[in-house]
Amino acid sequence: MLKSSKIYRGINGKVEIPGDKSISHRSIIIPSISNGVSEISNILKSEDVLNTMNAFKLMGVKIEEKKDKIIIYGQGLNSLNQPTKDIYLGNSGTSARLLIGLLASQNFISNISGDSSLSSRPMGRIMDPLNLMGAKIESNDKKLPICIRGQELKPINYTVPVPSAQVKSGLMLAALNTKGVSKFIEKDITRNHTEIMLESFGANIDIKEENKRKHISIIGKKELTSKNIQVPSDLSSSAFFIVACLINENSKLFLKNININPSRDGILRALKKMCAKIDITNQRFINNEIVADLNIQSSKLEGVELDKEMSKLMIDEYPILSIAACFANSPSIFRGLKELTIKESNRLELIYLNLIKCGVKCEVKDDDLFIYPNKEYVVKDSKIITKFDHRIAMAFCVMGGLLNKNLEISESECIKTSFPNFVKSFNSIGGNLIE
Ligand code: S3P
Repeated sequence: MLKSSKIYRGINGKVEIPGDKSISHRSIIIPSISNGVSEISNILKSEDVLNTMNAFKLMGVKIEEKKDKIIIYGQGLNSLNQPTKDIYLGNSGTSARLLIGLLASQNFISNISGDSSLSSRPMGRIMDPLNLMGAKIESNDKKLPICIRGQELKPINYTVPVPSAQVKSGLMLAALNTKGVSKFIEKDITRNHTEIMLESFGANIDIKEENKRKHISIIGKKELTSKNIQVPSDLSSSAFFIVACLINENSKLFLKNININPSRDGILRALKKMCAKIDITNQRFINNEIVADLNIQSSKLEGVELDKEMSKLMIDEYPILSIAACFANSPSIFRGLKELTIKESNRLELIYLNLIKCGVKCEVKDDDLFIYPNKEYVVKDSKIITKFDHRIAMAFCVMGGLLNKNLEISESECIKTSFPNFVKSFNSIGGNLIE
């Protein structure tokens, strides 16, 4: 349990944000099936990413861990071995969806399991299209644990029915090792880290965008060539500090090397619409990902109405954006949040329930969240429910800094899944978290 107490002297200084979680997973998976040696720097060493790394070690990939680097010795698309035991993926949905896709086309049997949250999340969204490709995957209710009887698949033409980068990426990984041309259409364009990395590793991939749809085509069985990767810092993790700086008085913060990939930067766009003072400087490309430095200052925020389209660009940021909305001058409406209900927890429900505990007036109608800010809040119940969801826990750590009563963040150890140094980093810039 973590206690979040009032912040008196603002949020000030510089803080190092750890490597991007989405890119870190891909920086293990793609080099592991490439040819040659890849050196990965600034990889996020959080529980989720370590679970992905252990999976590949179990499948015989040589991975050496040095101080701030890992070195992966890839031996090609078909070099993985049958894992010596079940692959346990903890809380990590990204590891699960991407590995199910990859392993469906490998020539061995593998069993995948996860913690109770991951075991309740839907896997049908990745299993159904893989079944169309001829995959053999056994499960109860299309949930983990599952058994994958890997084999040669057939290519497909498939329109991804849900806005999910995990599903798209899992399918792309299956297509890499499938003879022929697989074509995927994304109706809702989502984060494109897999496409960017596969292109740079020499995959036979073609990407076009037409009428707000993305067409991806992959010719399978082309071997990939290893490359070094420098993982940029994670915008989703930065968002907790950005919002903390914006809503606390007398605050100024500098964040370096943040990934601002336009398929992921919704939180910056949303906060800017709310009149946040965020300067984005020194934009540059690292491994074809856009990276920038951010200067943030205390701001008088306005409320904002965001439509469903925005949710694809910032699906992980609604917990912390909701906290920002509580300190704006007018109400906010966030529309189309259905996908939030099947994340590490039902995030829409937990945002609502915990804001009510904090004394905030808010409503959920269908999939839309309404927040009516007030000048001051009277905490009704200080025990925040996280259901082991890291982003709910971190968002309410930030909330606690502005309330007159300490918040108690339950199961706060879940923060390790994405940001092991969160408490230390937050306290180093003025946060008041007590372990
Ligand atoms: C991710 C995709 C998103 C996001 C998750 C990471 C990825 O999930 O919420 O934290 O790395 O591809 P969905 O694909 O389920 O939207």
